[in-house]
Amino acid sequence: MQEIFDLIRTDLAEVERVFSADTVCSVDAVTAMGQYLQLGGGKRLRPTMVLLSAGLCGYRGESAVKMGAVVEIVHTATLVHDDIIDNAEVRRGRASANSRWGNHISVLAGDWMYMQSFQLALRERNFRILDLLINLTQLMVEGELLQLEQIGRIDVAEQQYSELVYRKTACLFSVCAQLGAVVAGQSPEREKDLAEFGRNLGMAFQLVDDLLDFTADEATLGKPVGNDLREGKVTLPAIHTMAHCTPKERGLIATVVTERGFHTVSQREIVEIIERYRAPEAVKARAREYIDRALDHLKPFADSPYKRALEAIPEFVLNRDK
Ligand code: IPE
Ligand code: IPE
Ligand code: MG
Ligand code: MG
Repeated sequence: MQEIFDLIRTDLAEVERVFSADTVCSVDAVTAMGQYLQLGGGKRLRPTMVLLSAGLCGYRGESAVKMGAVVEIVHTATLVHDDIIDNAEVRRGRASANSRWGNHISVLAGDWMYMQSFQLALRERNFRILDLLINLTQLMVEGELLQLEQIGRIDVAEQQYSELVYRKTACLFSVCAQLGAVVAGQSPEREKDLAEFGRNLGMAFQLVDDLLDFTADEATLGKPVGNDLREGKVTLPAIHTMAHCTPKERGLIATVVTERGFHTVSQREIVEIIERYRAPEAVKARAREYIDRALDHLKPFADSPYKRALEAIPEFVLNRDK
């Protein structure tokens, strides 16, 4: 990862500069929240993908930097809204925006950030970019809505789960990689390859995120652990386990979902069950399938440091602990 960042270090620093310059609002709370979230860290995986994908297509410059800032602002806005919906108190190792500023201010600041990212994108005067971003934002909102519909249901099928993962996470990854090709003026075929690379990588990313929600260490992860089941969300580790475990064990998982918390069943017990049925291995194997598909879509591109960097991201995504 260090080598990847070295390759785009100056461009990433520019992304940070554009991000701060473009999250200044005449209402102080919005500016403060933007700054607070930016300083909280985050992996900057999405702008990294934009920059590397543009580099892969032979482009380096202002448009890629701008798009990097756009996708990070969109991502930040979705995190703000997501934490309100999930009642999450911690994000990036600090108090979440909602626990610091309250839900009302956070909803509106999130809206403002979405619109600001579109303003920034608009400066490119490129309808394709707006088309991609608007479609993306609608899909992401649909993802969160579908998730709300599925809350409390323990009979979620893997197909429904995958549909959700595509909308809430993978489509943003897909657009990040695609935008690199768009600013570089690549052919529709290469654009499609990068979109597919991003989509499959994004699927793997969320699968790992859902696994980490069970197995990670909260201090390392920087956000709550065990929150998905507590919030009534049945994700792949639980789907896999419930397909294989005993009715009694299934009942324990259902209890957490119904009680919306680890009250009569402990988090430890649930982790033991999912480990007993080797859900971590199964989820990683599924993520690995997505990653193999992602890598296939890089094959048409000529070898370059950017290509090698993009090829290294999947391993990082699979083995991350935060
Ligand atoms: C969190 O994304 C939201 C998900 C899609 C799971 P990241 O794990 O990339 O969050 P940061 O930006 O590094 O904090
Ligand atoms: C991430 O879903 C989807 C977003 C669009 C933010 P999660 O609910 O799993 O994200 P975390 O775990 O809170 O980061
Ligand atoms: Mg969440
Ligand atoms: Mg999560």
